[in-house]
Amino acid sequence: MRIILLGAPGSGKGTQGDMITTKYGFPRISTGDLLREEVVAGTPLGEIAKTAMERGELAKDELVIEMVDKRIQQDDCRDGYVLDGFPRNIPQAQKLEEIDRTREVVIEIFLEDAVVVKRLSARRICSSCGMIYNLLVKVPERMGVCDSCGGKLVQRDDDNPEVIQERLHVYHGQTEPLVEYYRRNGVFHRIDGDDTMQSVFEGICQVLDDALSETESQN
Ligand code: AP5
Ligand code: MG
Repeated sequence: MRIILLGAPGSGKGTQGDMITTKYGFPRISTGDLLREEVVAGTPLGEIAKTAMERGELAKDELVIEMVDKRIQQDDCRDGYVLDGFPRNIPQAQKLEEIDRTREVVIEIFLEDAVVVKRLSARRICSSCGMIYNLLVKVPERMGVCDSCGGKLVQRDDDNPEVIQERLHVYHGQTEPLVEYYRRNGVFHRIDGDDTMQSVFEGICQVLDDALSETESQN
């Protein structure tokens, strides 16, 4: 089963994706994280994606699709996986269906833009393990240090006011049409993201538990 987490920048896709991995064991595949790794490693792919990411625009479809295709063929994705930040437009969604025809469940974490801006301004991430923090609601025990691995906490380059606005603009223009696309396919669920992390997760678990028991009864 494929779980697709849709949602605006800062809506909590990474946070909830990690919670899904911990509870259900499906690996989380974040195209944003994969692209940032390529940028840090200075690969040709990273070089191409860097400018788009700094501006808050989408990287080229072919690059991202190839990266996802490679990743989902790995062994740990055999029983299912969680996609965080992919697909981000209808062509990516259609290509994904061609690559892997597995059953899909789409969950949109819905959040108003004003809340997004507040959350992203307070976000910090671990530069070593990628753990996500927030200076308002998920504060590290020691300022600037990751609780999990001791790595240095940093602010993402694209978490500045201008780029956040551009990312929101791109989300509403290019990614939001996927809501209607998946609604028509009958696999769409919307969860209110403006609640505690635990409450949002409970809503997601209800959707996933229903989907998993349906899959079991079909087998
Ligand atoms: P990506 O890394 O995917 O960024 P994004 O979509 O903008 O989403 P974020 O990672 O900013 O937010 P999130 O929803 O994961 O929220 P989080 O859990 O961290 O993409 C970056 C760039 O890569 C793109 O702009 C593009 O250039 C490129 N890219 C990626 N995928 C692509 C694709 N498919 N095609 C083309 N280009 C692509 O939470 C945010 C904050 O809120 C954290 O501080 C967290 O602690 C806090 N928080 C979470 N939940 C709650 C809660 N319930 N209450 C209070 N605070 C909360
Ligand atoms: Mg994320």
